[in-house]
Formats: sequence, C-alpha cells, structure tokens
Amino acid sequence: MKTILITGGAGFIGSHVIRRFVNKYPDYKIVNLDVLTYAGNLENLKDIDYMPNYEFVRGDINDAPFINSLFAKYQFDGVLHLAAESHVDRSISDPMSFIMTNIVGTVNLLNGARENWKNNPDGKRFYHISTDEVYGSLGETGFFLETTSYDPQSPYSASKASSDHLVRAYHNTYKLPVVISNCSNNYGPNQFPEKLIPLAIHNISNNKPIPIYGKGENIRDWLYVEDHASAIDLVFHEGKNGETYNIGGHNEWTNIALIRQLCKTMDIKLGRDTGTAEKLITYVKDRAGHDLRYAIDSTKIQRELGWKPSLQFEEGIEKTVDWYLANSNWLENVVSGAYEKYYEKQYLSR
Ligand code: NAD
Ligand code: TYD
Repeated sequence: MKTILITGGAGFIGSHVIRRFVNKYPDYKIVNLDVLTYAGNLENLKDIDYMPNYEFVRGDINDAPFINSLFAKYQFDGVLHLAAESHVDRSISDPMSFIMTNIVGTVNLLNGARENWKNNPDGKRFYHISTDEVYGSLGETGFFLETTSYDPQSPYSASKASSDHLVRAYHNTYKLPVVISNCSNNYGPNQFPEKLIPLAIHNISNNKPIPIYGKGENIRDWLYVEDHASAIDLVFHEGKNGETYNIGGHNEWTNIALIRQLCKTMDIKLGRDTGTAEKLITYVKDRAGHDLRYAIDSTKIQRELGWKPSLQFEEGIEKTVDWYLANSNWLENVVSGAYEKYYEKQYLSR
C-alpha cells in the first residue's frame, strides 16, 4: 500500500485526478489535502468519497507546521501538487494570495517532502502540476517547448513560474525526486464558472450577456480535463526525475470562435432557435496585460510516454455542455453569494 498526497483535490482538475487514482489504484491510499477556497467544492467528489482508499483532510498549504505534521503522520510515498490560486483575473486584483499559496505553499510542501524523504528517497516522487502560461505569450506562430524560456506576464503566471523554479532548485540542490508538467487551458465538468467556458454556459442558460474581453482574438489551446488527468497519471508513474513535460491538445481557438461554437451547441441542446445565444455576446474592456496566444508542442510526452488526447474539441464541448445542463444544481450551488459579489466587481464595473 502506497500513501499518496494530492493537494487541491476539491478543485476542478484535482477532482478528476482524485477520481481516476481512487478508482484505478485500490492499493494506493489517496489523501486529498484542500483548504476549500471559493474554488474547492467537495460535491465534486461525492461519487467516490465513501471509497476505503480515499481520505479528505481540510488544511492550508500555507501553514508550514501543519504541513510538516501531515508528512510526519502519513509518511507519504508521493505527492501530486495541484493546490493553487488559478484565475488570472483574480491575480490581477489580488496578487498576494497567489504569492502565498502558489509560491510559499509550494515551498512548504517541498520542505515537508525533503525532510521526510531525506533518508529514503528511493521510489518517492514530488509531482508539481503547472501551466503553459509560465512561457508567456506567443505571436501568431510557434509553440511552447519544454526548452522555451520562461517569460510570465501576469501575477498568476509569475507565481507559477516561481514555484516551477523552486521545484527544480530542490531537485538540483537537495536531489529531491521531482517531475513537472506544464499544461494548456483545461475545460470540462466541475470547472468553476469564473473561467471562460463554464461562465459562458451559465450565462447562456440564464440569458445573461457573455463577456468577451477586447476583440475576442486571443488564442488558447484547449484540452479536455480527463485527458489532462490521463497525462498526469502517466507522468507521475513513468516520467523521469528532474524532467518537464508539456501537455496540450493542438487545439487552438480564438475566444470568439470558441464562444460561437459553444453558442451553436447550446442553442441545439436548449432547443432554442439558431443564433439565440450569439445575441448574448458582449465585448467588454480587455484584461490588463492580456496574453495573445498560448500553444503547446506536446511531442515529448507523446513520444516518450505514449500519451495522446482522446477527444476532439467538438466532442469535448458537447460532453461538457451535457454535463453542465444535467448538473444545473451544481452550477447554481457554486454560484453562491460570494461568487456573485466577485462577479459584480469583475464584470459589472467594466
Ligand atoms: P482550481 O482553482 O479549480 O482548484 C484549486 C484547488 O486548490 C481548490 O480546491 C482550492 O480550494 C485549493 N486550494 C487553493 N489554495 C489552497 C491552499 N492554500 N491550501 C490548500 N488548498 C488550496 O484550479 P484548477 O483549475 O483545478 O488547477 C489545478 C492546478 O492545475 C493549478 O496548480 C493550476 O495552476 C494548474 N493548471 C490549471 C489549468 C487550467 O486550465 N485550469 C491549466 C494548467 C495548469
Ligand atoms: P480563462 O478561462 O480565464 O483562462 P486563462 O486566462 O487562464 O487563459 O480565460 C480564457 C480566455 O478567455 C482568456 O483569453 C480570457 C478570455 N475571457 C473572456 O474573454 N471573457 C471572460 O469572461 C473570461 C473569464 C475570459
């Protein structure tokens, strides 16, 4: 029996990773450490939380003594670190929480692992889950490779870049067995409706405006969340210590083209006339320092670990819309008072 710590497991990607690991690896005890910020929702895990190999611990990665006691208590064999502040717009209005959780919180976990594994590092692994945003913004051509220089442009991406550097520094300095992956934008079930796709689904369902920043010409490379979870599984088990793997679906869309595709799907699913949802598109003030384009070259993980995405985007979007429409209670529960206040600040002042 191995004991594996997964941080941020009540969030969007973390919940898919936890579900995959709990179901696929009955000989792992999975400990989900999450402080339950606005983005953490235990409802995401209600289908597996009764499983004997799953345990939830509420706690803050910013609390160093608590993290040290957790490592001492559970003697983890591996760590998959996903806990983070993850939304660029929030990082623009409140950078400090990103510095604390994404940088200091990561170092607390690195220290816990280092202290606990120093006499017996064999078979241990600290896996840091990161983002392609650390590479900055591309022009109209080119792709992010693992060798691309870091050039983060937002407080969010700068905090993730810092944490990536610190993870590598612990590998170089203390020989901590680490692996890192940098993934493109994820979409799918259970994503908090402050990110583009679930926000648009929620607003279309409720006949509210769909806010498009600037001209909608920014490009993102979208990957279905379960395909990210399958890549995380592979990197955790087969990746080489000290290595970085880029994960992405070669699936670039301008924001406006993506929203038009989503509008078409929503009109069909809701039985509305074609063109109904598109009328809700509303151009709003651009995000400060808005990165133009992200695009991942995932050749390394495909070649070395045999990973490939399983879904085409049109299929993934349809699955995603079906999930949100079938789980309207989830969406309504999440769109709580606190979220509405944030929503007002973020959008109604634009
Ligand atoms: P999310 O915001 O949905 O979830 C983050 C989770 O971390 C939440 O459950 C939250 O409660 C928890 N958390 C936050 N601060 C914490 C703290 N101090 N202590 C303990 N738990 C805390 O994020 P996500 O979209 O699922 O992203 C997960 C990871 O993947 C992040 O590290 C993010 O940088 C990375 N990533 C995300 C994307 C994406 O498109 N969403 C793409 C690439 C990489
Ligand atoms: P988002 O989902 O916040 O992810 P990220 O900023 O990490 O890429 O945003 C995706 C893209 O959509 C990004 O270019 C910003 C844009 N966007 C809008 O146009 N309107 C919105 O309401 C949101 C949330 C994002």
